[in-house]
Amino acid sequence: MKKKDKVDYVKNGKRLDGRKVDELRPIKIEAGVLQRADGSAYLEWGQNKVLVAVYGPREALPKHIQNPYRALVNYNYRMATFSVPDRKSPKPGRREIEISKVSGEALERAIFLERFPNTTIDVFVEILDSNAGTRVAALSAASVALADAGIPMRDLVSAVGVGKAGGEVILDLNKAEEDAPDAVDMPIAMLPRTKEIVLLQMDGLFTKKEWQKSMKLAEKGCEQVYEAQREALRKKFLEAEKEDKKSKKAGDQ
Ligand code: CDP
Repeated sequence: MKKKDKVDYVKNGKRLDGRKVDELRPIKIEAGVLQRADGSAYLEWGQNKVLVAVYGPREALPKHIQNPYRALVNYNYRMATFSVPDRKSPKPGRREIEISKVSGEALERAIFLERFPNTTIDVFVEILDSNAGTRVAALSAASVALADAGIPMRDLVSAVGVGKAGGEVILDLNKAEEDAPDAVDMPIAMLPRTKEIVLLQMDGLFTKKEWQKSMKLAEKGCEQVYEAQREALRKKFLEAEKEDKKSKKAGDQ
């Protein structure tokens, strides 16, 4: 690459989209957005838009898949055909199958599965728009939807991407940063109270120092995601309480 073609991924402390190295894209989460589902959530994280529906715990069928000791988590991550620049085939590809597997396993660490033998907890994720970091956005939204469904959990799962672009360790990479020639992309999910890591994937290579720096950034990022998740649930349950009081009042009259 010629020197003049070199992109400064961080210049004067600012990234290409104006963020600081440790700054997340704006996050908005709403719990309880789908009537039919037992639990649901809608999340916007920068350009990423994710809708999650949770069903269950319900009888696992066919019967031979049932586990008499615990519930199964069936996580379905799907990208809408229109969510990416080139039309995505509606058929689930290798990437979606992999993301579904590791995300389901991450949620299993949080849910008290042993309380629901022979059942399945189905989590349906639809990515409606994307700009890198969709698996962490989806996982963060999914744990809000699980809480909305009233499924008992040790903690929420909060997830974030960290990585490197242009030699700089940065939080929450966007697509332009993920496409940097030296990019490292590391999605991480944790149970924020205990800091137990329940998902960690890595594309690219870090030095030991970069790794330590990114783990610190990830922890900071997850704490912010956790706050947004709890705020969404607080809002949902305060509204539900208000509705409940209103209908009780109407019943008394
Ligand atoms: O979205 P995430 O970072 O979790 O996964 P990725 O495999 O690293 O993909 C990064 C981004 O590439 C996605 O968020 C999409 O915007 C884009 N992508 C795409 O354009 N076409 C695909 N078939 C898959 C992903």
